[in-house]
Amino acid sequence: MADEHNRRRATKQGEPTGPGIERDGIVWRIRSLSAARQVLRAREQTVQAGFTAERIPKGFFTKHPILISDGPAHDEQRSKVARFFAPAVVEGYTSRMEACADRLLEEFDGTFHLDELALLYTVEVTADVVGLTAAPVPKMAQRLVSFFNQPPFDITRADLGRTPGQWALAARNGLVPIVRMWFADVRPAVRARRRAPQGDVISHLIAEGYSDADILVECVTYGTAGMVTTREFIAMAAWHLLGDEALLRRYLVAGTEERYAILHEIIRLEPVVGHLYRRAHEAFEVGDGDERVTVQPGDLLDVCIRPANADPEAVGTDPLDLCPYRPVPAGVAAYGLTFGDGAHKCPGQPLAILESDVLLTRLLARTPQIVREPTLGWDDLIEGYTLRDFELRLTPGGVGS
Ligand code: HEM
Repeated sequence: MADEHNRRRATKQGEPTGPGIERDGIVWRIRSLSAARQVLRAREQTVQAGFTAERIPKGFFTKHPILISDGPAHDEQRSKVARFFAPAVVEGYTSRMEACADRLLEEFDGTFHLDELALLYTVEVTADVVGLTAAPVPKMAQRLVSFFNQPPFDITRADLGRTPGQWALAARNGLVPIVRMWFADVRPAVRARRRAPQGDVISHLIAEGYSDADILVECVTYGTAGMVTTREFIAMAAWHLLGDEALLRRYLVAGTEERYAILHEIIRLEPVVGHLYRRAHEAFEVGDGDERVTVQPGDLLDVCIRPANADPEAVGTDPLDLCPYRPVPAGVAAYGLTFGDGAHKCPGQPLAILESDVLLTRLLARTPQIVREPTLGWDDLIEGYTLRDFELRLTPGGVGS
């Protein structure tokens, strides 16, 4: 580990940490938290440009997919699904999460890879909320993971910097898992719910008149946005907690509020999604301290979450230190911009934190030892970290006993 004031593990070599606002042709790099928030809240002047949204043909859908829509229809879409993800509602899933965590920990007893366990766990929990309960979880998890197997791209270039061969590969690697998900996961779930609606997201989408293609793309969005990100965070949080005995002891005896404060601080330090992108379609001003710049229509805004979450103006001194309950000014979330802000802010944040806490408290109480530290990698689609081959062994008589 680096010095005691740099506890961040997912650090990308050569990634600049400043300045707060930087212009590079039509691309603006935004690293100040305050400027980043202004960009993410400029709902009238910008549209979603991340996750290759600008290359996804929209005419195919009768309802635009939530992640890549903008404007009043998107706001309405979000307010309708919000009820599935409100804190009080997701708490209703706690006992099922606990049962799932206990069952997986029994099955993975001995030496196991936490990243594999976390994948099965997050897929099962989210599938429950969404209503994707037709196929065995391990198979659906593989389908979701294969969706991320995309050739690299450069979002600042009109053709994403891909060769025709890479485009063909991207189409194949994106479409094959989607078709498989349709037949194995989504179609059976939709058919069952058309006959007998349930209290889940798919039943809601059917009631709202979504077509089969619309429902399929929402399911892929929830699957990838929710399950895969939370999986990485669980492994990252366990890595921090197991590497810091004082923090681990504190987490194990703390009440819910303090445990959440610890998790919020870990996820601020280690945001899973590294960059968010917006395209300006109207001119607007962005400010950082005394500096004010005017973004022009057509400009691409690259909101750099890692530096924004470590902006000392917003999160105080030693921003790369892990300091739960660090004082932050009004309007700044304890988790920084990890879950975004404004029109696209993640609706799954309460679910992500609750489900992570349920698994982590159960795992850590079983006194795991690190057999092998995880291998850090990077994913192009969400520009986030991946942790793989994180090997743990459950032994009696450790810290939590
Ligand atoms: C640690 C876990 C998670 C992280 C770090 C995360 C992060 C994010 C971020 C940064 C965005 C905003 C994208 C943007 O502004 O362009 C987002 C959007 C979204 N997230 Fe999450 N998320 C997590 C878990 C979840 C969960 C558990 C769900 C639900 C099952 C979920 C569902 C969504 C959806 C549907 C959107 C799109 C919202 C919209 O565009 O209006 N996420 N997430």
